[in-house]
Order: sequence, then C-alpha cells, then structure tokens
Amino acid sequence: MPVNLKGKSLLTLKDFTKSEIEYLLDLSSDLKQKKRMGIIGQQLKGKNVALIFEKPSTRTRCAFTVACVDEGGHPEYLGKNDIQLGYKESIEDTARVLGRLFDGIQFRGFSQEHVEKLAKYSGVPVFNGLTDDYHPTQILADLLTIKEQFGKLKGLNFTYIGDGRNNMANSLMIGCSKMGINFTLIAPTKLWPVDELINECKEFSTESGSSITITEDVNMVKGSDVIYTDVWCSMGEEEKASDRINMLKPYQVNKELVSKTEKEETICMHCLPAVKGNEITEDVFEQHAQVIFDEAENRMHTIKAVMVAMI
Ligand code: CP
Ligand code: NVA
Repeated sequence: MPVNLKGKSLLTLKDFTKSEIEYLLDLSSDLKQKKRMGIIGQQLKGKNVALIFEKPSTRTRCAFTVACVDEGGHPEYLGKNDIQLGYKESIEDTARVLGRLFDGIQFRGFSQEHVEKLAKYSGVPVFNGLTDDYHPTQILADLLTIKEQFGKLKGLNFTYIGDGRNNMANSLMIGCSKMGINFTLIAPTKLWPVDELINECKEFSTESGSSITITEDVNMVKGSDVIYTDVWCSMGEEEKASDRINMLKPYQVNKELVSKTEKEETICMHCLPAVKGNEITEDVFEQHAQVIFDEAENRMHTIKAVMVAMI
C-alpha cells in the first residue's frame, strides 16, 4: 500500500509503522542528495510553521528553520517568553489559535501531554521536537545515520548506555524495535525505562524479528555495531547532577568499554549536546566525530522529510 502521511502528527514513533519510517528515511536521503546537488524544492511554499520552544535548542531549532526555508516555507520561532502559552492561555486555546494561522506546529517542552493536546486541538500536524518522555525527530536522524554507515538496519546490534529512562533511551528503544534492530539497554536498575514501555517495545520487536535486552552489565556491550549515549542529566534535571555522576560513572563510553564490543567497526553515536568527561570521553568522541556530526546534519534532512510528508 502506498504510504500517505499527509495531516499526520509526529508525537512518538509508536504511532508509525516500519514502512512509514522507511518511507521517511528514503525521502530524507532523497532530499539530502538534492540539497547536495543544489536542487531547491518548493514543497512547503505558502506554508507557515510555528516553532514553540519551552526548552533551549541548537540542532532542532536550526534544523526546522533551515528545512522549512529550503522548501519555500516560513518558520516562526516562538520562544517561551514570546507567547501566552502556560501563563495567560491554556494549551487548548493556544492550539486552536495556532491551528487557524499555521499549517504545522513544532513543540519542544516538558510535557508529552501538552504536545498531544496541541495536536488534538490545533487540527494541523504537530511535531514533537523533544519532551521529557520522547524525542522522535532525533531517532529518524539516528536511523538515517546508521543506515548510511551499514547500508541496512535490520539485524544490527544497538546498545544504549547511560540514563536508561530519559527521552532518548525511550525513543531509541521504540525506533530500534520497530525497525528490527536488536536493542540492548545498559543502565543501573534505578534508571531503567518503565515496564509499560518495555512491554510495548517487546511487542514491536516480536513483530519486526528483533530482541530487547535490559541489563546492568556493561559486558553485554559485546557484539554491538552501535554504541549510543546521551547526557546523564537532561534539561530540567540539573539538580540531579552529582547523584547521576556517582551512579553512572561505570557506564561511561570510554576506550575500555568500546573494546568490549570485540568488533573493529563499532560506531559511537550521541544526539548532542555532549558533556565530555561524563557520558563519553573526549578521545572516543573525537574518534567518532564524523558519524556524530553526520547525525547532527541528518536532523535537518529528516525533519525536512517529516514536514514535506505530513504538512
Ligand atoms: N539533539 C538535539 O535535540 O539537540 P538540540 O537540543 O540542540 O536541539
Ligand atoms: N536527554 C537530553 C536530550 C537532548 C537532545 C535532554 O532532554 O536534555
């Protein structure tokens, strides 16, 4: 069946099938190639996209802005002090106003419930640019980067190590289990994802023919094609810093950990921004910088595909 995503929102990748994700990745590659050749599109001509940011951003904000302008659209940045949202106006009313004026809305903030409400009440496609729970546009960039590196996704062994219950860990578990990538999460038990999400992802992995392993044991990194890490304290959790450093020190991505894969071709990835010396050492980061910055660039191509396909 041909894939048609017009009018759909991207709130979490749970709502997307394997074929829909593949379609978005293929479209991203195509748009990336066209940009390299200097071919500029007009697929968002006459379209206006609101970019709401309650939390700061470098990559997501710039990716949405450049992607929108590249395709002839108009992005409007709405920072947390620029609009009435949360102070004088409810999510429902803000959504209904923005939905009358804009053709799509990006939301980065704290609450997953808020991004879901925006989608429900605005009547236009809403894109989750990160909440406390999920970061789905990042996962599309990660999957595209992995596909560029290995030429495939299915059957690869992917390990996420570090804070195992943050937006990245949750979303990578969803993305990998949907795409047939064997997913291992290595973290102290206190930082494991909630059981409900693990069980949902186990169903996705059964369907795609892959596995999910959740463990405290860093030796389980053996055989990994990809090692992925993220900050130990996400935005909004700054007061937990010293606690997390103590808890996560044994889970740092360093030379010794990488050597435990017993594979020469293992790549290390990071969504950025990175705290070097915490979740990843500077030498490992620099050794894998090419892939890590491909990943950052791919935010733009994948976000462009999302807007082109859904608006
Ligand atoms: N990876 C990512 O979302 O980066 P920003 O916080 O800079 O948008
Ligand atoms: N887990 C991080 C991801 C940043 C892109 C955070 O929420 O701060």
